Amino acid sequence: PIDSTFEENREKVDTHRGHDVWGPVEEPEQLGIHGTHVAVDFDVCLADGACLEDCPVDVFEWVDTPDHPESEIKADPANEAQCIDCMLCVDVCPVDAIDVDAG
Ligand code: SF4
Ligand code: F3S
Ligand code: ZN
Repeated sequence: PIDSTFEENREKVDTHRGHDVWGPVEEPEQLGIHGTHVAVDFDVCLADGACLEDCPVDVFEWVDTPDHPESEIKADPANEAQCIDCMLCVDVCPVDAIDVDAG
């Protein structure tokens, strides 16, 4: 599962589509965590897709991650500012790849 203390334990190493990327990143096999309010651990996500289907405000979009060992697409929190903290994505992800900081 995602480490919900990533903001203390990891460094911001990049930005992607307007959100933070938390390292370590060593492409293509290690991709880190994308997003902060809605955080997806790309190294845990295996492209189940439930988060994309269930998010009521379409926070997630697929991104291609060729040659990653878990999956070649990931759920990117492209629209994390739209999140309404319903926690559905956290509940439905089968591998607990998502952390939402509802405060
Ligand atoms: Fe979407 Fe709800 Fe998850 Fe926010 S908590 S990203 S609104 S499913
Ligand atoms: Fe990935 Fe979990 Fe969504 S595996 S695609 S973050 S439901
Ligand atoms: Zn991203």
